[in-house]
Amino acid sequence: MSLAPFVPSPPEVVRSMLQLAELKPGETLYDLGCGDARIVLMAVQEFGAKAAVGVELDDGRFKDCSAKIRDLHLDDKIKIIHEDLLKVDLSEANVVTLYLLTSANEKLKPNLERYLKNGARVVSHDFEMPGWKATTVKELTENYGHSHTLYMYKR
Ligand SMILES: C[S@@+](CC[C@H](N)C(=O)[O-])C[C@H]1O[C@@H](n2cnc3c(N)ncnc32)[C@H](O)[C@@H]1O
Repeated sequence: MSLAPFVPSPPEVVRSMLQLAELKPGETLYDLGCGDARIVLMAVQEFGAKAAVGVELDDGRFKDCSAKIRDLHLDDKIKIIHEDLLKVDLSEANVVTLYLLTSANEKLKPNLERYLKNGARVVSHDFEMPGWKATTVKELTENYGHSHTLYMYKR
C-alpha cells in the first residue's frame, strides 16, 4: 500500500538530514520510500557511507533507481529493494531517513522499535514520529523555498 506520494526532498534538505543524523563513513543508511534515490546517492557519494539501501514500492521509480545505480557503478554500495517499506528488516541500519506522512510513521514505528540497534538515528523530514521525543528538531527556513522541519531521534 502506498504510504506517501512522491515528493522529493530538495538537495540542501537531504544534506541537512544527513548532517543532523551525523552519518559517518563506514555506516549504513536506509531510506524508506527512496523516490529517485537522491538520499542513498548522497549518503554514499558525499558522506562516505559503507552501504545505503533504498526501499521503493512504485514499479517505475524502482526501475529508474536501479538503472541509475547501475549506470553509476555503485551497485556494490547501494541496494534498491522493491518492497513495502513496512516489510523490511532494518537491523543493519545506523541511520534511517523518512519523508512519509505521520500516519505512515505510526505504522512504521513498531518496526523501528523492534529492529534498530542502540545508537541508530532516525531523521524524518516534516513529519514527526508520534509518541517519540525528538533528540533534535531543526527548522530550515532560509534559501529552501518554503520552510522544512527535520526531526532527529536517537535510539
Ligand atoms: C515523499 S517521497 C520521498 C522520497 C525520498 N525519500 C526523498 O526524501 O526525496 C515518498 C516515497 O515513498 C514511496 N512509498 C510510498 N509508500 C511506500 C511503501 N509502502 N513502501 C515503499 N515505498 C513507498 C513513494 O513511492 C515515494 O517515492
